[in-house]
Amino acid sequence: MVPIGVLLVNCQFFKFKRSKLDQPSGTSFLKFLELQRQYGPAVRLGPKTIMVSDKEMITQVLAGDDLKKGDIYDLFKTDNVDNLFSTRDKDIHRHLRRLVSPSFSVKYLNSLEVHFHDTLLVLMDKLVAQIHANEDKPTRIDTWMMWKLMALDIIGATAFGRSFNMIENGTHIVPDIMAAQTKDIAWVANNPNLVWFIKLFIPVRTDPKIVEFMEKIIEERIASGTRRNDILQILLDTKQSSDPNDRLSNIEIMNMAVMFLGAGSDTTSNTLGFAVIELLRRPSTLKRLQDELDMIDLPEDGVFHHQQVKNLPYLNAVIKETLRLDPVAANGIERIADRDVVLAGKLFVPKGTAVISGIYHAHLNEDYWPNARAFEPERWLDDAPVPPATDAYFPFSIGSRGCVGKDMSLFEMRMALATFVRRFNIEAIPDVMEKLVDIRHYLSLTVAEGKTDFLVSIRP
Ligand code: HEM
Repeated sequence: MVPIGVLLVNCQFFKFKRSKLDQPSGTSFLKFLELQRQYGPAVRLGPKTIMVSDKEMITQVLAGDDLKKGDIYDLFKTDNVDNLFSTRDKDIHRHLRRLVSPSFSVKYLNSLEVHFHDTLLVLMDKLVAQIHANEDKPTRIDTWMMWKLMALDIIGATAFGRSFNMIENGTHIVPDIMAAQTKDIAWVANNPNLVWFIKLFIPVRTDPKIVEFMEKIIEERIASGTRRNDILQILLDTKQSSDPNDRLSNIEIMNMAVMFLGAGSDTTSNTLGFAVIELLRRPSTLKRLQDELDMIDLPEDGVFHHQQVKNLPYLNAVIKETLRLDPVAANGIERIADRDVVLAGKLFVPKGTAVISGIYHAHLNEDYWPNARAFEPERWLDDAPVPPATDAYFPFSIGSRGCVGKDMSLFEMRMALATFVRRFNIEAIPDVMEKLVDIRHYLSLTVAEGKTDFLVSIRP
């Protein structure tokens, strides 16, 4: 317990109505930024809610004290079955994470590369066809949508056992249904006072069409007796476990796949979208990335292998810097103090308080990141004059609930961004770029319009 004087010096407590902060919709992360500037690294947002952006406090909340997830995560639970993302129970979480982790190990990821590769081949073919159809002239493509369809197909191919073919067809019942549900969840997430109400009246069920689709895939895979290297296979393998507790039921497997679709598609595709936007805003950066990629032999089929690009310093720096400036979880990561805690030795937080870790706000803190608002991949290079503040960098969260798909998304983003930038000259459309300053956070950070065009021409 710290003396009240210390508490007042270090944390100015004010009350704000969170839903009122979210006007216009999706902008509360920007209001939080103003509040942090005004009142310091700990701000009271409501009677029992605080947001912290001090790196030491965030590290303690997410990793050191490993506080529990709050009731808002119940929104991500379906069929009353806990999944890895939604569960608030530490024992259930540990168990599920142990079962799922093998599918995200670096070794297993290498065997998933074929799915990333095949999807990128389809995407590149489609872009080339669009440009040819336009008489090989510079062609407008919706980059935001392009990455979205690619990421969906990759989750389809890895977690659902087959591609959704979104790149080719632009539609598929599973992602279409999910997209509609996600909108509702995003609305409630920004109006947290309604969580209890929604939970009472709307039992979240997996849509019967998704159940039918998934049941069929599972039955076919089991009946065929064949193995396929994908995430679904790892989940199905649990059925053979000698420990009955480790055997996932079909409904648990289905929920897990649906959860991966939610957690692993927009997160990766929006980050790629922001990377392209940041590169277009700073042509010298784009040029430096192109120069680095020009040094590597592009395979005959026109898609880089991960091995070729995984250690490229500038490519990795561009991705890291995008995740710093445009982190998916810009609204912060919410936990609940399940006991009294004292943060960073100076801030007393009573049991029952929701503590939001403002990772976006830590990423934009000038004390941690000189010239914090600027997109400077150079800060991540070995010869940077000031080393990056990796202890104030949380794009994938940290601790026991840190992102299980981190390596998978980095794998995917390296291959996709490297191949795209190497294959095409990309050029900004000035009036589109102007609109892109309006960014929003619903369930993940996005551009306000939800879609954007970039001029693309084939590299000779
Ligand atoms: C750029 C890409 C990504 C970013 C920035 C990202 C970020 C995050 C963050 C910040 C969390 C913590 C959320 C919280 O505690 O509320 C998280 C958790 C999670 N992510 Fe990701 N993610 C990305 C891609 C992926 C992918 C590709 C997958 C899987 C296919 C995935 C699956 C998950 C899961 C299952 C959790 C919950 C883990 C647990 O509680 O044990 N993510 N992610």
